[in-house]
Amino acid sequence: MKGLEGNKIFASVLLAFICVLGVSHLVDMFYKPDELYFGSDETSEVSSSSAMVSMATSVDIYDLFKKADIDNGVKVARKCQTCHDFSVERKQKIGPGLRGIVGAKKARDSDYNYSKDFYSLTGTWTYRELFMYLHSPKGVVAKTKMSFVGIKKYQDIVDLIVYLNTLSDTPVAEEYFDVEPIKL
Ligand code: HEC
Repeated sequence: MKGLEGNKIFASVLLAFICVLGVSHLVDMFYKPDELYFGSDETSEVSSSSAMVSMATSVDIYDLFKKADIDNGVKVARKCQTCHDFSVERKQKIGPGLRGIVGAKKARDSDYNYSKDFYSLTGTWTYRELFMYLHSPKGVVAKTKMSFVGIKKYQDIVDLIVYLNTLSDTPVAEEYFDVEPIKL
């Protein structure tokens, strides 16, 4: 009898184990980076098998904006300045000048030679669209000539955008950004 009990326990442990394996396989099957929900910093670089956890603890983009740190944005922006000028003159370097870019029309500079794909973009650089582009430039504009891998940490991107928004005579109002969670 005891042996049977032991077997039962063993079997249920095995079953639980199989279930866990099954779930992580399912996650692997259905998980696509494109559909990753906005996660907090702590969960942004997790492996695909724990994507479920990351989705469950995902935070709204609005939270990231509420705790934005401009000083950190200034630091993150150093990465951009190899290619982009931030001054009022908006000099064209490897990339176009970025002063006043938040809320500006995409591919706005007539004296900059954008990639072909860039000319087909429509609309303005909203917080949301900037976020997505800076997270994965090639994910948004496949053939962009901005050879930059993108920024992984969500809070860094938001800090950067909030800083970029200060480089403007007419900064975009807080209400301007979309509070819907971003699906990447
Ligand atoms: C290696 C050079 C390089 C780096 C680094 C770089 N960019 Fe760019 N960026 C470009 C180029 C080139 C373009 C033009 C893209 C095109 O035409 O496809 C561009 C375009 C852009 C645009 C679109 C501008 C417009 O007029 O519509 C934005 C916004 C932008 N970059 C932001 C950034 C930010 C913010 C960073 C820093 C995190 C950054 N870039 C880092 C080269 C770079």
